[in-house]
Amino acid sequence: MFTCGKQVNSACRFIFLFSIFLVTYYWRKSVLQDKVIVKTWQEQQDNHPCKGQGYLTNTTITPLKDKNSFIIAPYFDRRDGNFIRILSIVHHKKVKELYCIFCCQNSNTSCTVKAKIDIHSDRFGFPYGTTDLLCLKPQDCYSQFISVHPSVDPEATQLPLFPVQNLHSESPSLEFTVCISTMFGKYNNVLQFVQTIEMYKILGAQKVMIYKNSCSPLMEKVLDYYISEGTVEIIPWPIHLYLKVSSYWHHSMGGKDIGYYGQIAALNDCIYRNMYRSKYVVLIDADEMILPIKDADWKSLMQRLEKGNPRAGVFLFENHVYGNSLFSTTPFNFSSWHAVPGENILEYIYRQPKYIPAVRNRKMVIDPRKVVQTSVHKVIKKYGVSVQVNSGIAILFHCKRPANKNLAKESIVPNKILWRYSSALIPNINKVLHKSNIL
Ligand SMILES: *[C@@H]1O[C@H](CO)[C@@H](O)[C@H](O)[C@H]1NC(C)=O
Ligand SMILES: *[C@@H]1O[C@H](CO)[C@@H](O)[C@H](O)[C@H]1NC(C)=O
Ligand SMILES: *[C@@H]1O[C@H](CO)[C@@H](O)[C@H](O)[C@H]1NC(C)=O
Repeated sequence: MFTCGKQVNSACRFIFLFSIFLVTYYWRKSVLQDKVIVKTWQEQQDNHPCKGQGYLTNTTITPLKDKNSFIIAPYFDRRDGNFIRILSIVHHKKVKELYCIFCCQNSNTSCTVKAKIDIHSDRFGFPYGTTDLLCLKPQDCYSQFISVHPSVDPEATQLPLFPVQNLHSESPSLEFTVCISTMFGKYNNVLQFVQTIEMYKILGAQKVMIYKNSCSPLMEKVLDYYISEGTVEIIPWPIHLYLKVSSYWHHSMGGKDIGYYGQIAALNDCIYRNMYRSKYVVLIDADEMILPIKDADWKSLMQRLEKGNPRAGVFLFENHVYGNSLFSTTPFNFSSWHAVPGENILEYIYRQPKYIPAVRNRKMVIDPRKVVQTSVHKVIKKYGVSVQVNSGIAILFHCKRPANKNLAKESIVPNKILWRYSSALIPNINKVLHKSNIL
């Protein structure tokens, strides 16, 4: 039997104290890891980082001093603790640590918190990736602004202050918002753009958000009209000022810093911007639309889908690529549109064969409150479940110039679903072309 006799007393005491030391050490370590506040400044301190040294940012992409981190926007996210989720783009290797500085207005203190750097898993080989910087909000700190810095002690120079979005969770007032990620390359597909936006409106979209890098002067006229109408909201997206942008989705296709002009970052930003504004968010490109087969509009489509899938937060639609062809004949007279640059999707009635690899890709309608991180063809982190929608109910109607020009007419079946809407669609398109002084 083990007893602590006089001889072993000191050894016993040592073991006992050592155990207490170990327990305390690991307990403290775990507590300290939770306690993420790195530094606090009081009101009277001269080097208080929030004291008159901040400047309010009003840009959609803001580079930090390290030149490898770019802040898009901080969003309050209370879905799993009181976090500030700062959407950003960072270099996946070069950025090791970043700090959030909270300017607590209620106590005139500032708190520095170490950010958890969560680089999204879909980076497609590019060195820069969409990243969430997660900073736990200090208790009793009311802060409308936050700053981000590569070191614990920012120099007493101008600190960028970012307004924290989504501080108040309201119930959404819009039903459907379409997010079109990254318009770039002096985009000039005017006719297809107007046709597509008019289809979105007929289907039920109330708002279309466009992350705009560049477009043609004619396209600018159309956008100005849609902004004045209240349909379109432009988010300036000058990402080429900071990073070498690729027009392709994968790094192996010509290198560069980030894919598709930062499409994934734009899509994630659009979700958070609309979290408490819109019931659903539609994540597609300007040459795509979610086209219901059985329903007349998105509202009845979503009612049908939700009935069968009450826990779903993500609905995935199969990509059906359509092209026009030499033998496209339509019952419509399009002569007045000949002067308008761009494709006429009412002639895109021929489905491309299924062996085109992109056909397997899907695009999404999501409940933004159930999504944490998204990629282009799937959601990466979410709360609900994803549902693959049967193509007999709805498809992703994707208009693209035919890859295979030698298709025999008999081998392809025309799909005229869009024509169902022609009596409303064609006059609406003409109205926009006239009002934006294009016709
Ligand atoms: C952003 O702020 C700068 C000064 O801080 C100002 O010159 C510029 O006009 C602002 N831009 C917008 C879009 O508000
Ligand atoms: C914070 O500082 C400002 C300006 O120095 C002062 O007007 C305000 O009363 C202070 N608030 C608190 C809660 O101390
Ligand atoms: C189409 O409409 C134009 C006038 O807008 C007219 O000149 C032309 O003859 C029409 N074409 C056909 C085939 O009806």
